[in-house]
Amino acid sequence: MVTTVEAVSHATRFLKQPKRMLVDGAWVDACHGRTLEVYDPALGEVIDHVPAGDAEDVDLAVAAARRAFADSEWSRMTASDRGRIIWRVGDLILEHADELAEIESMDNGKPVSVARAADVPLAADLFHYMAGFATKIHGQTFPISVPYAPGAQFHAYTLKEPVGVVGQIVPWNFPLLMAAWKLGPALATGCTVVLKPAEQTPLSALRLAELMLDAGLPNGVVNVITGFGETAGAALAGHPGVDKVAFTGSTEVGKLIVKAAANDLKRVTIELGGKSPNVVFADADLETAIPGAANAIFFNHGQCCAAGSRLYIEQKVYDQVLVGVSDYADKIMVGRGLDPDTEMGPLVSAEQLERVTGFLEAGDREGVRTVTGGTQVGEHGYFVAPTVLDGAGPGNSVFDEEIFGPVVTAIPFSDTAEVAAAANETIYGLAAGIWTTDLTKAHRLIPQLHAGTVWVNTYNIFDAALPFGGYKQSGWGREMGEEVIHEYTETKSVCIGL
Ligand code: NAI
Ligand code: MG
Repeated sequence: MVTTVEAVSHATRFLKQPKRMLVDGAWVDACHGRTLEVYDPALGEVIDHVPAGDAEDVDLAVAAARRAFADSEWSRMTASDRGRIIWRVGDLILEHADELAEIESMDNGKPVSVARAADVPLAADLFHYMAGFATKIHGQTFPISVPYAPGAQFHAYTLKEPVGVVGQIVPWNFPLLMAAWKLGPALATGCTVVLKPAEQTPLSALRLAELMLDAGLPNGVVNVITGFGETAGAALAGHPGVDKVAFTGSTEVGKLIVKAAANDLKRVTIELGGKSPNVVFADADLETAIPGAANAIFFNHGQCCAAGSRLYIEQKVYDQVLVGVSDYADKIMVGRGLDPDTEMGPLVSAEQLERVTGFLEAGDREGVRTVTGGTQVGEHGYFVAPTVLDGAGPGNSVFDEEIFGPVVTAIPFSDTAEVAAAANETIYGLAAGIWTTDLTKAHRLIPQLHAGTVWVNTYNIFDAALPFGGYKQSGWGREMGEEVIHEYTETKSVCIGL
């Protein structure tokens, strides 16, 4: 087991170097000089410091982004050249994959093997995918008829224009990947950006910013302000120089973002919480459904907005699936992310540990049965045992609220109509899972589920080509795929009388 930060080869150089924010191509301290502590959540120890930027720093970064958007080399760059830079960012991520995975593991706690296999290549793939879009953003021509202008002729078409300066606020559960999801489409469309990573996990965004400069991104196109949500984040969300805010995080803060943006009616996309139903029918192939249901919740320690946290199991196989998922949970290797054998790391912060164990205690008090797990693990760091709960229902906070930890509540059901109604009984609508060998049943249930993504006989499959986002209080808009391009462009209709 790797026990010291020094033993980590690739990330050491980066960790030793003083951290500054990126504003207009220069690395700067916060205006008032304050810093915030960066923790390794496996140790509960401070491993680094980054600037604690606030409103003044956001002002400077927004001004830089405005200048870069208005009259720099960026706005005059051909789409092809822009695409080449974005592609190069993807290449540089892959060239530095081990380093980025280690930074992510130390900062967030996730297993380095998972970061190396998922977060980092997915981030690179997002840039590669979006690089191609730079040259494929175009309007249309329209054969307009105009009944009140008989005989007149027109040439009518649309232009797709970048929305402008985008404030991007990302969370700590997939720090690098969430930054990629946001930055990729912004750059493909020709926007400029002020990015604020989460205060818990600012490191990979700073390393990514270095790589973006190496890739040839002009100064001011991407600016990175590290700092707290209530200060730097709030200043960015409400800034009059920002044309659009893109946010991923809690539903609570999502609502604050919408309020802040309401002042000047900025465009807003928000990807928020979830309490996703994962439905296992009795006819499912349980050999895949049981580990599938376990991974749906335990991947990334349950710190996934799409986590399958409400596990609906058809009555006939309830005990079998419950025992199967619990046995799977018991075998998960919980440990420090840098240990190559680790399958599940710690929660990201002391605050999240308190939050998750608080839910578990509330469930216990309310008589919810803990089948396995249910407690903090170890003396150091923020570890929680993979937990399976039985007997929770509406009115129990473990059932109603997003826990964002490795905690699943199992619920029996007896038919499709019942489970469709139950699955939708939530304020959220991010994702849902269905496990069945009966495709007719799956196809009939899919349209009934109020969710932005439905996985059938699989779970947690993400791809740069596939739009992702929520119904209801899980958010507005979609990330990834062609859909996200529309979130970063304005459509200008042009009509020329001939
Ligand atoms: P959060 O929503 O406070 O943090 C997400 C981002 O928003 C961070 O960059 C933070 O600095 C920023 N932020 C916080 N307050 C802000 C404000 N007033 N204005 C602008 N930006 C602000 O989430 P937090 O408190 O870290 O986690 C609490 C819960 O939120 C979690 O337990 C989980 O349920 C949910 N969450 C959901 C995520 C998702 O992927 N949908 C990601 C992270 C948290
Ligand atoms: Mg918060």
